[in-house]
Amino acid sequence: MTRIAVVEGDGIGHEVIPVAQKALALLHPEYEFFSVDVGYGKWEETGCPCADRDLGALKTADAILFGAITTPPMKDYQSVVLRIRKSLDLYANLRPIRGDGFDIMIVRENTEGLYSGIEETTTARATTLRVVSRAGTERIVRTAIRLAKERDGLLTIGHKANVIKSDVFFRDICIAEAQAAGIEYNDRFIDALSLDILQHPKNYNVVVTTNMFGDILSDVAAYLVGGLGLVPSANIGDEYALFEPVHGSAPDIAGGNIANPIAAVRSAAMLLDHFGDAEGAARIDTAIRTLVARGICTRDLCGSYGTREFGDALITQLCKKT
Ligand code: NAD
Ligand code: IPM
Ligand code: MN
Repeated sequence: MTRIAVVEGDGIGHEVIPVAQKALALLHPEYEFFSVDVGYGKWEETGCPCADRDLGALKTADAILFGAITTPPMKDYQSVVLRIRKSLDLYANLRPIRGDGFDIMIVRENTEGLYSGIEETTTARATTLRVVSRAGTERIVRTAIRLAKERDGLLTIGHKANVIKSDVFFRDICIAEAQAAGIEYNDRFIDALSLDILQHPKNYNVVVTTNMFGDILSDVAAYLVGGLGLVPSANIGDEYALFEPVHGSAPDIAGGNIANPIAAVRSAAMLLDHFGDAEGAARIDTAIRTLVARGICTRDLCGSYGTREFGDALITQLCKKT
């Protein structure tokens, strides 16, 4: 029995995740779903956005389908999303950007860097420790190398080694690993890379980078495919796996039946791929492409469908054999 924990979270998470869950349930009626309530809404109700027992519940699942969480306005706030990623040691954040003639996989280190959580604020200054460990770098670059081999593609290492010593360390370990693996690689400064990926997306295949750079680069690269409503992600560790859209809870459109559920549905497709169901993942992908090509899409893609209406059209399309 495959058990999927479903976290809608906040905002448009409540609108897009039900669409993704329906797609999964249709393709895999044998999956068992159970919901886990964490986030801003939970904080408003209980004063605690994510309890230890919620983390415990997530750990019992075979995979987690996750929406998005609003940052609660609390002092000394610890991000729920980061807490989950760290507690489950989901070190590899895979963010695919696929479009006409390009297929890029951003491989973002997901547990350290500027997200180390080692911080101090005094009246005079605030500091955040940017931790780049050898073990953390080796495991993320090895994931990226494995993907580059599978995809028979170039590995690009994104960094800022001209300024930051921890990125000299990151770059050098990545280069040593790429050389040892005998794969084709290059490296780019992250600022130049952020523009070049938009201008020449076909020159990229797998891009590995540190935590914060990967966060920013994936939102930037979303521009190539029509925005945040389209980009999914997988957060993978050795024991657990969580699938979520790259976008957040989008409070500006939440509750309006406006949000594009494609990023969430594609995250569900990544979940299927993770379980070895490449055919199911491809069915989802084809159904989305077919609908969008016919102009059946939400307003961010210049369509007139609401989230629910697009979701219904997607389920109808998935039910068709072709
Ligand atoms: P956001 O990604 O929520 O929204 C950015 C812009 O993109 C907004 O204009 C929004 O309307 C639009 N957008 C996002 N998803 C869309 C979709 N599916 N369809 C159509 N338009 C979409 O980023 P933000 O506004 O900077 O952050 C809002 C909240 O979400 C913050 O509290 C932030 O911390 C949180 N956040 C959470 C996650 C997560 O839980 N994984 C990720 C990013 C941001
Ligand atoms: C993302 C988000 C998160 C991040 C926030 C909400 C902690 O922006 O998943 O891209 O910075 O990783
Ligand atoms: Mn982000």
